[in-house]
Amino acid sequence: VTAQLNARGDVAVLVPAAGAGLRLGPGGPKALRLLAGEPLLVHAIRRVAAAASVRQIVVAAPASDVEAVRALLAPVAPVTVVAGGAERQESVAIALAQVPLDVGIVLVHDAARSLTPPALIESVAAAVRAGASAVIPVLPVVDTIKEVGPAPASTGEVVRGTVDRAALRSVQTPQGFRHGVLAAAHAAATDPLTDDAGLVEKAGLPVVCVPGSELALKITRPLDLVLAEALLHLK
Ligand code: CTP
Ligand code: MG
Repeated sequence: VTAQLNARGDVAVLVPAAGAGLRLGPGGPKALRLLAGEPLLVHAIRRVAAAASVRQIVVAAPASDVEAVRALLAPVAPVTVVAGGAERQESVAIALAQVPLDVGIVLVHDAARSLTPPALIESVAAAVRAGASAVIPVLPVVDTIKEVGPAPASTGEVVRGTVDRAALRSVQTPQGFRHGVLAAAHAAATDPLTDDAGLVEKAGLPVVCVPGSELALKITRPLDLVLAEALLHLK
């Protein structure tokens, strides 16, 4: 059964899914790798489509898999599929070009955060609707984090200092933006960054934090697949 999107919704969700998944080890592109028998991208899109304010979904797929991804997602939800770029930032920019100007809020959401609950998507969108230019979901950092540098006269590294963990956050997606803010940030982008809020920070605009979700973990390494599968069976 194909989910219907909300024709009166005010949110477009861009889903970068064009990465190779090198850190996941040998196998196809990460978005098409299976979790409990279904591609990660299917898990992700099902949850995005279940978020009540979503009017449009644009997926940036690996260039060689655009047709396969269209066929895969057709029974899941109405989506626009475009060929992504060499860098995540490029994939986002290509997807953004598909969003009509009258869509006020644009979210960018990694396909690799496949188990992200619809409620988190709605909470990010709600914070933008409430007036924020840019919104990111965050979690506290659990490890002690150290800054390191090259060790003198060796190939190793040494500690330069310990960062105050209380002031650190791990950043997830979806990241939400006023449409014009994201478009301007991408237009001004020079070096590729790993998240979109970073572009807005560079433009000097405030980025607001909302509580993230452990279910929004990014499936990156093989152990993450094991954890994701366990989380899937929790429900
Ligand atoms: N992504 C993308 N286009 C790229 C690179 C990444 O759309 N050129 C997407 C990935 O598909 C993923 C998200 O950005 O959904 C986050 O990237 P990451 O977790 O790093 O995925 P990969 O780049 O696929 O993994 P790796 O870095 O291990 O190769
Ligand atoms: Mg990557």
